[in-house]
Amino acid sequence: MKIIVQHKGGELSFDCGSREPILYAGLRQGVALPFECATGTCGTCRARVMTGQVEIRWKEAPGGARLKPEKGDILMCQTWPRSDCTVRVPSELTSMNDAWPALRRGVVRNIRRLTADVAQFDLHLSTPMTFHAGQFVVLETPHVSGGRAYSMVNFAPALDRLAFLLKRKPGGRFSRWFFDEIAGEPEVQVFGPLGRAIFRPEERRNIICVAGGSGIAGMMSILESAIRAEHFHAHIGSVFFGVRTLADTFYLEELSRYAAASRGNLEITVALSDEAPATPLQADFPILKFAQGMIHEVAAKVLAERDRNALIYVAGPPIMVDSTLRALITRGVPVRDIRYDKFA
Ligand SMILES: Cc1cc2nc3c(=O)[nH]c(=O)nc-3n(C[C@H](O)[C@H](O)[C@H](O)COP(=O)(O)OP(=O)(O)OC[C@H]3O[C@@H](n4cnc5c(N)ncnc54)[C@H](O)[C@@H]3O)c2cc1C
Ligand code: FES
Repeated sequence: MKIIVQHKGGELSFDCGSREPILYAGLRQGVALPFECATGTCGTCRARVMTGQVEIRWKEAPGGARLKPEKGDILMCQTWPRSDCTVRVPSELTSMNDAWPALRRGVVRNIRRLTADVAQFDLHLSTPMTFHAGQFVVLETPHVSGGRAYSMVNFAPALDRLAFLLKRKPGGRFSRWFFDEIAGEPEVQVFGPLGRAIFRPEERRNIICVAGGSGIAGMMSILESAIRAEHFHAHIGSVFFGVRTLADTFYLEELSRYAAASRGNLEITVALSDEAPATPLQADFPILKFAQGMIHEVAAKVLAERDRNALIYVAGPPIMVDSTLRALITRGVPVRDIRYDKFA
């Protein structure tokens, strides 16, 4: 089916499959349609259907709360075309420069528990993927309705094995399938890479990463990319990783290795919100710092210093991301220096 998109700068068109979200079809063909989560929660991909028939996939999607369906408003990430369509978006569109997303198949392998409710797994792809550190993909299995976004943990050019972190969400459908029902090495559908909270060494910026829980996933990819590019030979970095208790910590060895490889230019602080960090923790990981408190409060001092050359990455649960963003904006950090993913 043909989709025509009217935007502030004119019109663009692309083809779309009958069971393909309009957003994914446009991105796959290099049209920079607006989006953030790609999974129905943020509302950024809103558009209005001017002509043609569509089918809404997830009618209760929270991102659609402020839409006017009677006027033809849709979320492009939740809409399949049923005929040729013309849709209107409220912004100006451009073509994407690089890393166009595509649909691949992936096989889930090597699941290992990191804590009681966090697991890491590998995804072996049907064709290699090149992506920017900090990006994510949307995974879909026939056992769960709708796609879920997961950030890559690893980084290298043209990878055919992606690594991910998955945190169990109580009552969550994908979580339940993954933790309780998976059998063997299931195949999933993979759409990506996606996301603009990316790290590119050529931007030559210091970095500050604030991660809550599984929000550390994309930060690990960013650190891997930075270490590979010897970024910390000329730049500094601060990482703040917040979890609730000692039992919720993971990746402390990997983070120690990144700090050790940084020539002393990467400072990593692990904060526990619900208990004091036990003394042995510091002895086991002497290169890391440990603190007690909510991660955005622990990060506040560094954020207050306002390093104007720093790019600030934030990822994790929506409450944690919103608190950190509020703290940043009230300190006058320009929005262009903040890149975030809400794990909604
Ligand atoms: C950019 C981004 C990156 C993320 N990275 C990670 C990560 O690295 N690790 C991690 O653990 N989590 C990550 N998340 C969160 C992850 O995508 C899931 O929300 C989380 O795993 C809970 O999924 P669930 O199915 O268990 O919970 P559920 O509550 O069942 O579903 C949560 C999400 O799934 C989607 N959804 C729910 N129902 C439907 C439906 N019927 N049709 C279509 N879509 C539906 C919605 O987006 C919803 O918010 C990320 C989220 C985003 C937006
Ligand atoms: S991109 Fe569609 S709701 Fe977030």
